[in-house]
Amino acid sequence: MESLVSASLLGCDLADLKGEIKSIENAGADWLHCDVMDGMFVNNISFGTPVIKCIKKAASVPLDTHLMIDDPIRYVDDYASIGSDNITFHLEAAADPQAVIDRIHSHGISAGISIKPATPVSEIKPYLDKIELVLVMTVDPGFGGQKFIPDTLEKISEIRYLLDSMGRENVYIQVDGGVNDKTVKFCREAGANVMVSGSYVFGAEDRDAAVKSLKI
Ligand code: DX5
Ligand code: ZN
Repeated sequence: MESLVSASLLGCDLADLKGEIKSIENAGADWLHCDVMDGMFVNNISFGTPVIKCIKKAASVPLDTHLMIDDPIRYVDDYASIGSDNITFHLEAAADPQAVIDRIHSHGISAGISIKPATPVSEIKPYLDKIELVLVMTVDPGFGGQKFIPDTLEKISEIRYLLDSMGRENVYIQVDGGVNDKTVKFCREAGANVMVSGSYVFGAEDRDAAVKSLKI
C-alpha cells in the first residue's frame, strides 16, 4: 500500500484556513496534521482548541493531532472532544505514558507516541504493543521548515523491525520534519508509511504533484 500524506497546517496560510484545507484535500492529502505547541515542551506556541474546532468543521479528512506539550494527559479530553481522529503525544513529555494512552483510547480514537531525534528506540519499546501509531520526529520539534536529520532513519528501521516481529504490521510509522520528494524515499525504505509535510506541500506551486510525490 502507498504511504498516506498528513498535511501539516502549520505550513499553510493561516489567514485562509478554510481555503487551504480544501486546497490540500483536493490535492490528495489523506489526513490534516494539527501541531499543538505550548511554548514549554517546545520553544514555540502555535494554536489550540478554538482553532482546531474550526479546522474540524472545514475538514473532510481525519484530523491527526500532534501534541507538543508538557504533561499531555491534562489536555487529552479537550483534543478528543473537538474531533481529533488520533492523538499523538511525546514520550519525553509524559510522566505516565500508559495513562495517556488509556485516556486517548477511552475516547475510542487511535493513540500515537512520538519521540524526538535524540530519544532512543529502547524507550518507546514497552509501548509498541499498546498504540496504533509511532511518530518518529525527523527534526527537533518546534518549527516548520527545518532540515531533515538522516540519523533518524535507523530508528525507523528498528521500530519497523520490532513491530514486524511482534506481528503488529498495521501500526503506522509516521515521519515529521523536513519531508519532501527527496527525503521521502529514505523514509519509505526504512519503513515509514505516513508522511507529514508542511512547507513542502503548502509551498509547492503544484500541490497535486507535491502530495503525489510523497505517496510512494
Ligand atoms: C514541527 C512540526 C511539524 C512541522 C513540519 O515540530 O511537528 O509537523 O509543521 O513542517 P515541515 O514539513 O516544514 O518540516
Ligand atoms: Zn507535527
